[in-house]
Amino acid sequence: MTPIEQISQATVSPAIIVIFGASGDLTQRKLLPALHSLSCASLLHSDTQILGVGRTKIPPESFRARIYEGIEAYARVKPDARLCELWTQLETRLDYTVVTPGDGDTFRHLAQRIEQIESLSETGGNLLFYLAVPPEAAYDIAQSLQQVGLTNRSRGWQRVVIEKPFGQDLADAKRLNQRLQQLLREDQIYRIDHYLGKETVQNILSFRFANTVFEPLWNRDTVDHVQITVSEQLGIEGRGRYYDRSGVLRDIVQNHLLQLVALITLEPPSSITAKALRDEKVKVFDAIRSLKSDDVVLGQYAGYRDEVDIADDSRTPTYAAIRLHIDNWRWHGVPFYVRAGKGLKAKETEVTLQFKDIPHQLFPDIAPSANHLSLRIQPDEGIRLQFETKVPGAGMRTQPVDMSFDYSDRFGELALADAYERLLLDALQGDASLFIRDDEIESCWRILDPLLHPHDELPVHEYAKNSWGPKEANRLFADSKRTWLRRC
Ligand code: BG6
Repeated sequence: MTPIEQISQATVSPAIIVIFGASGDLTQRKLLPALHSLSCASLLHSDTQILGVGRTKIPPESFRARIYEGIEAYARVKPDARLCELWTQLETRLDYTVVTPGDGDTFRHLAQRIEQIESLSETGGNLLFYLAVPPEAAYDIAQSLQQVGLTNRSRGWQRVVIEKPFGQDLADAKRLNQRLQQLLREDQIYRIDHYLGKETVQNILSFRFANTVFEPLWNRDTVDHVQITVSEQLGIEGRGRYYDRSGVLRDIVQNHLLQLVALITLEPPSSITAKALRDEKVKVFDAIRSLKSDDVVLGQYAGYRDEVDIADDSRTPTYAAIRLHIDNWRWHGVPFYVRAGKGLKAKETEVTLQFKDIPHQLFPDIAPSANHLSLRIQPDEGIRLQFETKVPGAGMRTQPVDMSFDYSDRFGELALADAYERLLLDALQGDASLFIRDDEIESCWRILDPLLHPHDELPVHEYAKNSWGPKEANRLFADSKRTWLRRC
Protein backbone atom coordinates (compact mmCIF):
# COMPACT_ATOMS: atom_id res chain seq x y z
CA MET A 1 0.00 0.00 0.00
CA THR A 2 1.46 3.38 -0.97
CA PRO A 3 1.43 6.19 1.61
CA ILE A 4 -1.41 7.96 -0.13
CA GLU A 5 -3.50 4.80 0.00
CA GLN A 6 -3.13 4.63 3.74
CA ILE A 7 -5.55 7.51 4.16
CA SER A 8 -8.86 6.00 5.14
CA GLN A 9 -11.73 6.55 2.77
CA ALA A 10 -13.87 7.34 5.78
CA THR A 11 -12.23 10.76 5.94
CA VAL A 12 -12.94 11.67 2.30
CA SER A 13 -16.41 13.09 1.99
CA PRO A 14 -18.44 12.67 -1.21
CA ALA A 15 -18.67 15.67 -3.51
CA ILE A 16 -19.32 16.83 -7.01
CA ILE A 17 -16.01 17.85 -8.54
CA VAL A 18 -16.65 20.50 -11.18
CA ILE A 19 -13.66 21.08 -13.45
CA PHE A 20 -13.59 24.30 -15.48
CA GLY A 21 -11.27 24.02 -18.47
CA ALA A 22 -12.23 20.38 -18.86
CA SER A 23 -11.32 20.21 -22.53
CA GLY A 24 -7.81 21.48 -21.75
CA ASP A 25 -4.45 19.90 -21.31
CA LEU A 26 -4.23 20.00 -17.52
CA THR A 27 -7.49 18.08 -17.20
CA GLN A 28 -6.43 15.39 -19.63
CA ARG A 29 -2.82 15.02 -18.53
CA LYS A 30 -3.07 15.56 -14.80
CA LEU A 31 -6.47 16.00 -13.15
CA LEU A 32 -8.39 13.02 -14.50
CA PRO A 33 -5.41 10.64 -14.36
CA ALA A 34 -5.03 11.69 -10.72
CA LEU A 35 -8.72 11.18 -9.99
CA HIS A 36 -8.51 7.80 -11.72
CA SER A 37 -5.60 6.74 -9.49
CA LEU A 38 -7.52 7.91 -6.41
CA SER A 39 -10.54 5.98 -7.59
CA CYS A 40 -8.43 2.83 -8.13
CA ALA A 41 -7.14 3.16 -4.59
CA SER A 42 -10.74 3.53 -3.34
CA LEU A 43 -9.95 7.02 -2.17
CA LEU A 44 -12.80 8.70 -3.98
CA HIS A 45 -16.03 8.28 -2.10
CA SER A 46 -18.34 6.05 -4.11
CA ASP A 47 -20.91 8.86 -4.40
CA THR A 48 -18.41 11.35 -5.81
CA GLN A 49 -19.28 12.64 -9.27
CA ILE A 50 -17.10 14.54 -11.76
CA LEU A 51 -18.52 17.17 -14.05
CA GLY A 52 -16.26 18.59 -16.74
CA VAL A 53 -17.11 22.10 -17.85
CA GLY A 54 -15.81 23.95 -20.91
CA ARG A 55 -16.70 26.49 -23.58
CA THR A 56 -16.51 23.95 -26.36
CA LYS A 57 -19.48 21.77 -27.17
CA ILE A 58 -18.32 18.16 -26.88
CA PRO A 59 -20.63 15.14 -26.66
CA PRO A 60 -20.11 13.59 -23.19
CA GLU A 61 -19.03 10.29 -24.78
CA SER A 62 -16.24 12.04 -26.75
CA PHE A 63 -15.20 13.76 -23.54
CA ARG A 64 -14.98 10.39 -21.78
CA ALA A 65 -13.00 8.92 -24.69
CA ARG A 66 -10.52 11.80 -24.48
CA ILE A 67 -10.18 11.32 -20.74
CA TYR A 68 -9.60 7.59 -21.22
CA GLU A 69 -6.77 8.36 -23.67
CA GLY A 70 -5.28 10.71 -21.08
CA ILE A 71 -5.45 8.05 -18.40
CA GLU A 72 -3.84 5.48 -20.68
CA ALA A 73 -1.03 7.86 -21.50
CA TYR A 74 -0.40 9.63 -18.19
CA ALA A 75 -1.95 7.84 -15.20
CA ARG A 76 0.33 6.31 -12.62
CA VAL A 77 -2.07 3.40 -12.41
CA LYS A 78 -2.80 2.47 -16.04
CA PRO A 79 -6.19 1.02 -16.97
CA ASP A 80 -4.96 -2.48 -17.87
CA ALA A 81 -7.30 -5.46 -18.11
CA ARG A 82 -7.62 -5.74 -14.33
CA LEU A 83 -8.30 -2.06 -13.98
CA CYS A 84 -10.88 -1.80 -16.76
CA GLU A 85 -13.57 -2.44 -14.25
CA LEU A 86 -12.27 0.49 -12.22
CA TRP A 87 -12.31 2.70 -15.29
CA THR A 88 -15.90 1.69 -15.88
CA GLN A 89 -16.71 2.83 -12.35
CA LEU A 90 -15.08 6.19 -12.96
CA GLU A 91 -16.61 6.56 -16.40
CA THR A 92 -20.12 6.30 -15.04
CA ARG A 93 -19.47 9.22 -12.72
CA LEU A 94 -17.99 11.42 -15.43
CA ASP A 95 -20.01 13.94 -17.40
CA TYR A 96 -19.51 17.11 -19.40
CA THR A 97 -21.46 20.31 -19.94
CA VAL A 98 -20.90 23.62 -21.72
CA VAL A 99 -20.54 26.79 -19.66
CA THR A 100 -19.50 30.10 -21.16
CA PRO A 101 -17.76 32.52 -18.81
CA GLY A 102 -19.78 35.73 -18.62
CA ASP A 103 -23.01 34.06 -19.77
CA GLY A 104 -25.34 33.90 -16.75
CA ASP A 105 -27.75 31.51 -18.49
CA THR A 106 -25.10 28.83 -18.84
CA PHE A 107 -24.25 29.18 -15.13
CA ARG A 108 -27.95 28.84 -14.23
CA HIS A 109 -28.00 25.75 -16.37
CA LEU A 110 -24.91 24.48 -14.51
CA ALA A 111 -26.70 24.99 -11.18
CA GLN A 112 -29.67 22.96 -12.45
CA ARG A 113 -27.38 20.27 -13.71
CA ILE A 114 -25.69 20.04 -10.32
CA GLU A 115 -29.05 19.74 -8.58
CA GLN A 116 -29.99 17.00 -11.00
CA ILE A 117 -26.83 15.06 -10.16
CA GLU A 118 -27.49 15.64 -6.47
CA SER A 119 -30.95 14.16 -6.78
CA LEU A 120 -29.34 10.90 -7.93
CA SER A 121 -26.34 10.67 -5.59
CA GLU A 122 -25.64 11.54 -1.98
CA THR A 123 -23.03 14.27 -2.18
CA GLY A 124 -24.34 16.31 0.76
CA GLY A 125 -24.19 19.63 -1.11
CA ASN A 126 -20.38 19.43 -1.28
CA LEU A 127 -18.86 21.07 -4.35
CA LEU A 128 -15.21 21.24 -5.33
CA PHE A 129 -14.68 23.68 -8.20
CA TYR A 130 -11.33 23.22 -9.91
CA LEU A 131 -10.56 26.22 -12.11
CA ALA A 132 -8.12 24.77 -14.64
CA VAL A 133 -8.28 28.04 -16.55
CA PRO A 134 -5.97 31.03 -16.83
CA PRO A 135 -5.97 32.64 -13.37
CA GLU A 136 -7.25 35.96 -14.75
CA ALA A 137 -10.51 34.17 -15.55
CA ALA A 138 -10.84 32.92 -11.97
CA TYR A 139 -12.59 35.96 -10.54
CA ASP A 140 -15.32 36.11 -13.19
CA ILE A 141 -16.05 32.41 -12.82
CA ALA A 142 -16.15 32.66 -9.02
CA GLN A 143 -18.52 35.63 -9.32
CA SER A 144 -20.87 33.78 -11.68
CA LEU A 145 -20.84 30.75 -9.38
CA GLN A 146 -21.72 32.96 -6.45
CA GLN A 147 -24.54 34.66 -8.38
CA VAL A 148 -26.23 31.32 -9.01
CA GLY A 149 -25.77 30.32 -5.37
CA LEU A 150 -23.20 27.59 -5.90
CA THR A 151 -20.48 28.87 -3.57
CA ASN A 152 -22.60 29.90 -0.60
CA ARG A 153 -25.02 27.09 0.02
CA SER A 154 -26.64 26.37 3.35
CA ARG A 155 -25.53 22.72 3.21
CA GLY A 156 -22.21 20.96 2.71
CA TRP A 157 -18.96 22.71 1.84
CA GLN A 158 -17.95 24.55 -1.31
CA ARG A 159 -14.29 25.07 -2.23
CA VAL A 160 -12.56 26.64 -5.21
CA VAL A 161 -9.12 25.57 -6.43
CA ILE A 162 -7.25 28.28 -8.33
CA GLU A 163 -4.24 27.63 -10.55
CA LYS A 164 -1.01 29.60 -10.61
CA PRO A 165 0.30 32.15 -11.34
CA PHE A 166 -2.02 33.94 -8.93
CA GLY A 167 -1.83 37.47 -10.37
CA GLN A 168 0.89 39.06 -12.44
CA ASP A 169 2.67 40.96 -9.67
CA LEU A 170 2.13 42.08 -6.07
CA ALA A 171 -0.46 44.75 -6.83
CA ASP A 172 -2.41 42.41 -9.07
CA ALA A 173 -2.30 39.54 -6.55
CA LYS A 174 -3.53 41.87 -3.80
CA ARG A 175 -6.38 43.04 -5.98
CA LEU A 176 -7.30 39.47 -6.88
CA ASN A 177 -7.21 38.43 -3.22
CA GLN A 178 -9.45 41.32 -2.21
CA ARG A 179 -11.96 40.68 -4.98
CA LEU A 180 -12.11 36.94 -4.40
CA GLN A 181 -12.54 37.47 -0.68
CA GLN A 182 -15.66 39.52 -1.38
CA LEU A 183 -17.13 36.36 -2.92
CA LEU A 184 -15.57 33.56 -0.87
CA ARG A 185 -14.20 33.04 2.62
CA GLU A 186 -10.43 32.56 2.67
CA ASP A 187 -10.95 28.98 3.87
CA GLN A 188 -12.86 28.25 0.64
CA ILE A 189 -9.97 29.37 -1.58
CA TYR A 190 -7.35 26.74 -2.47
CA ARG A 191 -4.47 28.40 -4.34
CA ILE A 192 -2.60 25.49 -5.82
CA ASP A 193 1.13 25.01 -6.37
CA HIS A 194 1.53 21.46 -7.59
CA TYR A 195 5.13 21.28 -6.31
CA LEU A 196 3.77 21.09 -2.77
CA GLY A 197 1.92 17.90 -3.72
CA LYS A 198 5.15 16.12 -4.67
CA GLU A 199 6.11 13.46 -2.13
CA THR A 200 9.75 14.50 -2.27
CA VAL A 201 8.86 18.10 -1.52
CA GLN A 202 6.81 17.07 1.50
CA ASN A 203 9.66 14.82 2.51
CA ILE A 204 11.80 17.91 3.10
CA LEU A 205 9.69 18.42 6.23
CA SER A 206 9.99 14.81 7.40
CA PHE A 207 13.68 14.76 6.68
CA ARG A 208 14.21 17.86 8.75
CA PHE A 209 11.73 17.34 11.57
CA ALA A 210 11.37 13.56 11.92
CA ASN A 211 15.11 13.12 12.51
CA THR A 212 17.40 14.57 15.12
CA VAL A 213 20.69 14.19 13.26
CA PHE A 214 20.27 16.83 10.60
CA GLU A 215 18.61 19.71 12.39
CA PRO A 216 21.71 20.72 14.42
CA LEU A 217 23.57 21.08 11.10
CA TRP A 218 20.84 23.10 9.45
CA ASN A 219 22.09 26.64 10.04
CA ARG A 220 24.77 29.24 9.40
CA ASP A 221 27.33 27.48 11.65
CA THR A 222 27.77 24.51 9.32
CA VAL A 223 26.14 25.42 6.01
CA ASP A 224 28.30 27.41 3.62
CA HIS A 225 25.59 28.01 1.04
CA VAL A 226 22.56 26.37 -0.54
CA GLN A 227 21.86 25.75 -4.23
CA ILE A 228 18.44 25.01 -5.66
CA THR A 229 17.97 24.08 -9.31
CA VAL A 230 14.68 23.62 -11.12
CA SER A 231 15.79 22.86 -14.65
CA GLU A 232 13.76 21.61 -17.59
CA GLN A 233 14.93 20.29 -20.92
CA LEU A 234 11.72 21.11 -22.72
CA GLY A 235 10.95 24.51 -24.14
CA ILE A 236 7.53 26.10 -23.90
CA GLU A 237 5.67 23.32 -25.70
CA GLY A 238 3.06 25.37 -27.56
CA ARG A 239 2.16 27.45 -24.48
CA GLY A 240 3.57 30.64 -26.02
CA ARG A 241 0.58 32.85 -25.35
CA TYR A 242 0.67 32.09 -21.64
CA TYR A 243 4.44 31.84 -21.31
CA ASP A 244 5.41 35.06 -23.03
CA ARG A 245 3.34 37.00 -20.49
CA SER A 246 4.72 35.03 -17.56
CA GLY A 247 8.30 34.03 -18.17
CA VAL A 248 10.27 31.97 -15.70
CA LEU A 249 9.86 34.45 -12.85
CA ARG A 250 6.09 34.08 -12.73
CA ASP A 251 5.94 30.51 -14.01
CA ILE A 252 8.44 28.85 -11.65
CA VAL A 253 10.34 31.23 -9.37
CA GLN A 254 7.41 32.99 -7.67
CA ASN A 255 5.80 29.71 -6.76
CA HIS A 256 7.65 26.36 -7.07
CA LEU A 257 11.12 27.68 -6.38
CA LEU A 258 10.23 29.96 -3.49
CA GLN A 259 8.18 27.18 -1.91
CA LEU A 260 11.29 24.98 -1.96
CA VAL A 261 13.29 27.80 -0.34
CA ALA A 262 10.66 28.11 2.39
CA LEU A 263 10.53 24.40 3.21
CA ILE A 264 14.32 24.18 3.39
CA THR A 265 14.66 27.21 5.63
CA LEU A 266 11.57 27.52 7.82
CA GLU A 267 11.68 27.10 11.58
CA PRO A 268 10.09 23.95 13.04
CA PRO A 269 6.34 24.64 13.08
CA SER A 270 4.55 23.97 16.37
CA SER A 271 2.34 21.40 14.61
CA ILE A 272 1.77 20.16 11.10
CA THR A 273 -1.47 22.08 10.68
CA ALA A 274 -2.14 24.42 7.78
CA LYS A 275 -1.93 27.48 10.01
CA ALA A 276 1.31 26.60 11.79
CA LEU A 277 3.07 25.58 8.59
CA ARG A 278 1.95 28.57 6.58
CA ASP A 279 2.79 30.98 9.42
CA GLU A 280 6.39 29.71 9.36
CA LYS A 281 6.63 29.97 5.58
CA VAL A 282 5.44 33.56 5.64
CA LYS A 283 8.11 34.41 8.25
CA VAL A 284 10.81 33.11 5.90
CA PHE A 285 9.46 34.97 2.88
CA ASP A 286 9.30 38.16 4.92
CA ALA A 287 12.94 37.65 5.99
CA ILE A 288 14.24 37.42 2.41
CA ARG A 289 16.30 40.51 1.72
CA SER A 290 15.07 42.86 -1.03
CA LEU A 291 16.55 41.81 -4.34
CA LYS A 292 18.85 44.12 -6.25
CA SER A 293 19.67 43.85 -9.95
CA ASP A 294 23.11 42.49 -8.99
CA ASP A 295 21.44 39.48 -7.40
CA VAL A 296 19.90 38.23 -10.60
CA VAL A 297 20.89 36.98 -14.02
CA LEU A 298 18.18 36.45 -16.62
CA GLY A 299 18.42 34.44 -19.82
CA GLN A 300 16.44 33.39 -22.85
CA TYR A 301 17.19 30.24 -24.84
CA ALA A 302 18.26 30.68 -28.45
CA GLY A 303 15.29 30.06 -30.70
CA TYR A 304 12.66 31.13 -28.14
CA ARG A 305 11.55 34.02 -30.34
CA ASP A 306 10.85 31.61 -33.19
CA GLU A 307 8.32 29.66 -31.15
CA VAL A 308 4.61 30.02 -31.93
CA ASP A 309 2.87 33.03 -30.30
CA ILE A 310 6.15 34.64 -29.21
CA ALA A 311 6.88 38.23 -30.20
CA ASP A 312 9.94 38.68 -32.47
CA ASP A 313 11.46 41.08 -29.97
CA SER A 314 10.33 39.28 -26.81
CA ARG A 315 12.50 39.91 -23.74
CA THR A 316 10.69 37.32 -21.64
CA PRO A 317 13.23 35.37 -19.60
CA THR A 318 13.14 31.58 -19.83
CA TYR A 319 15.96 31.34 -17.26
CA ALA A 320 16.71 33.08 -14.00
CA ALA A 321 19.52 32.66 -11.50
CA ILE A 322 19.11 34.54 -8.24
CA ARG A 323 21.20 35.03 -5.10
CA LEU A 324 18.99 35.29 -2.03
CA HIS A 325 19.81 36.23 1.54
CA ILE A 326 17.61 35.39 4.47
CA ASP A 327 17.94 37.92 7.23
CA ASN A 328 17.27 35.90 10.34
CA TRP A 329 19.42 34.23 13.02
CA ARG A 330 19.51 30.81 11.43
CA TRP A 331 20.58 31.86 7.95
CA HIS A 332 22.48 35.08 8.44
CA GLY A 333 25.42 35.14 5.98
CA VAL A 334 24.38 31.98 4.10
CA PRO A 335 23.70 32.76 0.44
CA PHE A 336 21.05 30.81 -1.46
CA TYR A 337 21.79 30.42 -5.17
CA VAL A 338 18.60 29.42 -6.92
CA ARG A 339 17.96 28.98 -10.60
CA ALA A 340 15.28 27.77 -12.94
CA GLY A 341 15.01 27.54 -16.67
CA LYS A 342 13.69 25.87 -19.75
CA GLY A 343 15.70 24.47 -22.66
CA LEU A 344 18.47 23.35 -20.30
CA LYS A 345 20.67 20.30 -20.33
CA ALA A 346 18.52 18.06 -18.14
CA LYS A 347 15.27 17.94 -16.27
CA GLU A 348 16.12 18.00 -12.62
CA THR A 349 14.98 19.58 -9.43
CA GLU A 350 17.47 19.40 -6.62
CA VAL A 351 18.31 21.18 -3.39
CA THR A 352 21.90 20.99 -2.18
CA LEU A 353 23.26 22.16 1.14
CA GLN A 354 26.97 22.72 0.81
CA PHE A 355 28.68 22.39 4.18
CA LYS A 356 31.66 24.50 5.23
CA ASP A 357 35.20 23.43 4.49
CA ILE A 358 37.19 21.76 7.23
CA PRO A 359 39.05 24.36 9.33
CA HIS A 360 42.47 22.70 9.07
CA GLN A 361 43.80 20.30 6.40
CA LEU A 362 45.27 17.06 7.78
CA PHE A 363 45.16 15.15 4.54
CA PRO A 364 46.74 16.37 1.33
CA ASP A 365 44.04 15.80 -1.25
CA ILE A 366 40.68 16.57 0.30
CA ALA A 367 38.61 18.33 -2.31
CA PRO A 368 37.32 21.72 -1.25
CA SER A 369 33.60 21.66 -0.48
CA ALA A 370 33.78 17.95 0.16
CA ASN A 371 30.57 17.62 2.13
CA HIS A 372 27.18 18.25 0.70
CA LEU A 373 23.69 16.95 1.13
CA SER A 374 21.41 16.79 -1.89
CA LEU A 375 17.68 16.33 -1.77
CA ARG A 376 16.69 15.13 -5.18
CA ILE A 377 13.11 16.19 -5.86
CA GLN A 378 12.92 14.68 -9.38
CA PRO A 379 13.74 12.55 -11.32
CA ASP A 380 15.64 9.70 -9.54
CA GLU A 381 14.03 10.90 -6.34
CA GLY A 382 16.24 10.42 -3.33
CA ILE A 383 18.75 11.90 -0.89
CA ARG A 384 22.53 11.82 -1.11
CA LEU A 385 25.19 12.78 1.41
CA GLN A 386 28.68 13.23 0.03
CA PHE A 387 31.64 12.81 2.33
CA GLU A 388 35.34 12.00 2.08
CA THR A 389 36.60 8.51 2.65
CA LYS A 390 40.01 6.90 2.75
CA VAL A 391 41.05 5.18 -0.45
CA PRO A 392 42.15 1.66 0.57
CA GLY A 393 45.86 1.04 0.44
CA ALA A 394 49.02 2.61 1.60
CA GLY A 395 49.18 6.27 2.49
CA MET A 396 46.31 8.52 3.44
CA ARG A 397 44.58 9.39 0.21
CA THR A 398 40.91 10.36 0.38
CA GLN A 399 38.14 10.70 -2.14
CA PRO A 400 34.48 11.77 -2.05
CA VAL A 401 31.82 9.04 -1.88
CA ASP A 402 28.03 9.07 -1.51
CA MET A 403 25.68 7.66 1.06
CA SER A 404 22.36 7.58 -0.68
CA PHE A 405 18.70 6.75 -0.38
CA ASP A 406 16.62 6.07 -3.46
CA TYR A 407 12.83 6.27 -3.32
CA SER A 408 12.04 3.69 -5.97
CA ASP A 409 14.56 1.17 -4.59
CA ARG A 410 13.00 1.45 -1.17
CA PHE A 411 9.31 1.93 -1.95
CA GLY A 412 8.91 0.65 -5.54
CA GLU A 413 8.50 2.36 -8.90
CA LEU A 414 4.85 3.27 -8.43
CA ALA A 415 5.09 4.49 -4.87
CA LEU A 416 5.33 8.16 -5.66
CA ALA A 417 1.83 9.44 -6.26
CA ASP A 418 1.43 12.25 -8.73
CA ALA A 419 1.28 15.63 -7.00
CA TYR A 420 -2.29 16.21 -8.18
CA GLU A 421 -3.50 13.03 -6.48
CA ARG A 422 -2.41 14.32 -3.12
CA LEU A 423 -3.67 17.85 -3.71
CA LEU A 424 -7.09 16.80 -4.99
CA LEU A 425 -7.45 14.48 -2.05
CA ASP A 426 -6.47 17.23 0.39
CA ALA A 427 -8.90 19.68 -1.21
CA LEU A 428 -11.68 17.08 -0.85
CA GLN A 429 -10.72 16.60 2.79
CA GLY A 430 -10.50 20.32 3.51
CA ASP A 431 -6.81 20.20 4.39
CA ALA A 432 -5.25 23.41 3.12
CA SER A 433 -1.70 22.78 4.44
CA LEU A 434 -0.31 22.26 0.94
CA PHE A 435 -2.15 25.21 -0.59
CA ILE A 436 -1.06 28.82 -0.48
CA ARG A 437 -2.63 31.34 1.88
CA ASP A 438 -3.46 34.94 0.86
CA ASP A 439 -0.64 36.59 2.84
CA GLU A 440 1.82 33.91 1.69
CA ILE A 441 1.16 34.57 -1.97
CA GLU A 442 1.57 38.30 -1.42
CA SER A 443 4.87 37.79 0.43
CA CYS A 444 6.19 35.79 -2.52
CA TRP A 445 5.21 38.50 -4.98
CA ARG A 446 6.87 41.10 -2.73
CA ILE A 447 10.17 39.24 -3.22
CA LEU A 448 9.83 39.14 -6.99
CA ASP A 449 8.34 42.60 -7.57
CA PRO A 450 11.71 44.45 -7.85
CA LEU A 451 12.60 42.11 -10.73
CA LEU A 452 9.26 42.53 -12.43
CA HIS A 453 9.37 46.32 -12.21
CA PRO A 454 13.10 47.16 -12.15
CA HIS A 455 14.36 50.75 -12.17
CA ASP A 456 16.62 49.90 -15.10
CA GLU A 457 15.78 47.20 -17.56
CA LEU A 458 17.60 44.00 -16.61
CA PRO A 459 19.67 42.40 -19.38
CA VAL A 460 18.38 39.10 -20.76
CA HIS A 461 21.28 36.91 -21.94
CA GLU A 462 20.88 34.41 -24.71
CA TYR A 463 21.96 30.83 -23.95
CA ALA A 464 22.25 27.77 -26.10
CA LYS A 465 19.58 25.12 -25.75
CA ASN A 466 20.83 22.03 -23.99
CA SER A 467 23.32 24.01 -21.89
CA TRP A 468 23.24 24.94 -18.19
CA GLY A 469 22.20 28.52 -18.98
CA PRO A 470 24.04 31.76 -19.68
CA LYS A 471 27.68 32.03 -18.57
CA GLU A 472 26.79 35.34 -16.95
CA ALA A 473 25.12 33.35 -14.15
CA ASN A 474 28.63 32.61 -12.81
CA ARG A 475 28.78 36.29 -11.86
CA LEU A 476 26.61 35.56 -8.81
CA PHE A 477 29.62 33.77 -7.28
CA ALA A 478 32.12 36.45 -8.23
CA ASP A 479 32.96 37.40 -4.66
CA SER A 480 33.68 33.83 -3.51
CA LYS A 481 35.29 30.56 -4.56
CA ARG A 482 31.92 28.87 -4.87
CA THR A 483 30.59 27.62 -8.21
CA TRP A 484 27.39 26.09 -9.54
CA LEU A 485 27.32 22.37 -8.93
CA ARG A 486 26.32 22.06 -12.57
CA ARG A 487 28.46 24.66 -14.26
CA CYS A 488 27.12 26.97 -16.94
C1 BG6 B 1 4.29 24.26 -14.23
C2 BG6 B 1 4.82 25.27 -15.21
O1 BG6 B 1 3.78 24.90 -13.10
O2 BG6 B 1 5.36 23.40 -13.83
C3 BG6 B 1 5.46 24.59 -16.40
O3 BG6 B 1 3.76 26.09 -15.65
C4 BG6 B 1 6.50 23.59 -15.94
O4 BG6 B 1 6.04 25.54 -17.27
C5 BG6 B 1 5.93 22.67 -14.89
O5 BG6 B 1 6.93 22.86 -17.07
C6 BG6 B 1 7.00 21.78 -14.31
O6 BG6 B 1 6.40 20.87 -13.44
P1 BG6 B 1 7.06 19.46 -13.15
O7 BG6 B 1 6.16 18.84 -12.15
O8 BG6 B 1 7.09 18.74 -14.46
O9 BG6 B 1 8.42 19.74 -12.64
